Amino acid sequence: MVKSAWRRLSKLFIYLFKGGNYVYSNYNTDEARRIGVKVGENCRFIATSATTFSTEPWLIEIGNHVSMTNPLFITHDGGVWVFRNQYPEIELFGKIKIGNNVFIGSEALILLNTEIGDNSIIAARAVVKGVFEPNSVLAGVPARRICSVDEYFEKNKDRFSWNARHLPSEQKRSIICEKLGV
Ligand SMILES: CC(C)(COP(=O)(O)OP(=O)(O)OC[C@H]1O[C@@H](n2cnc3c(N)ncnc32)[C@H](O)[C@@H]1OP(=O)(O)O)[C@@H](O)C(=O)NCCC(=O)NCCS
Repeated sequence: MVKSAWRRLSKLFIYLFKGGNYVYSNYNTDEARRIGVKVGENCRFIATSATTFSTEPWLIEIGNHVSMTNPLFITHDGGVWVFRNQYPEIELFGKIKIGNNVFIGSEALILLNTEIGDNSIIAARAVVKGVFEPNSVLAGVPARRICSVDEYFEKNKDRFSWNARHLPSEQKRSIICEKLGV
């Protein structure tokens, strides 16, 4: 309780003095590890909590350098509910494995029995189930491979340079607004 309040307070201080880009501390990854998720190094978990990682967090393995924003992992299939009158002990579980260097977009849903290969991008709000090869951009419901990561880079590379990433918030804001004519 005291620890949690202290973490929130320190995040607020960091936010106030360094700006919004710096608020992603190790807190969320530590919390995920504490409940049993296998988490690699240099990961960034934004807006995750204990409920993000389903009721069997120990079935989830996440590689190195993985970023995720408010995702949801599901490691069991509650659909068996409809058979419980007949088979009271019925259950179904599955593992989830996320490779190295993966970006998981906002509010993606990752279902049991899923494996995402290294160096992949998951679109915002994708519903992902199955085994996917490395270097994939996955989008949609259900998620499909829309292109390779190399193709995504080639297509967008001219739009990637803003020269603002590590600037203080206000300076960053004015560069972005100027470029976008806001
Ligand atoms: C998936 C993503 C990386 C693709 O980027 P992109 O290659 O520039 O995408 P485009 O806009 O060229 O779209 C390519 C196709 O994918 C579709 N698409 C893009 N994003 C999609 C999404 N989130 N869900 C479903 N389809 C999507 C487009 O409609 C388009 O379809 P079409 O070829 O049939 O017209 C990007 O759209 C995305 O979702 N990024 C994550 C954003 C996010 O979560 N940010 C959080 C910040 S922490």
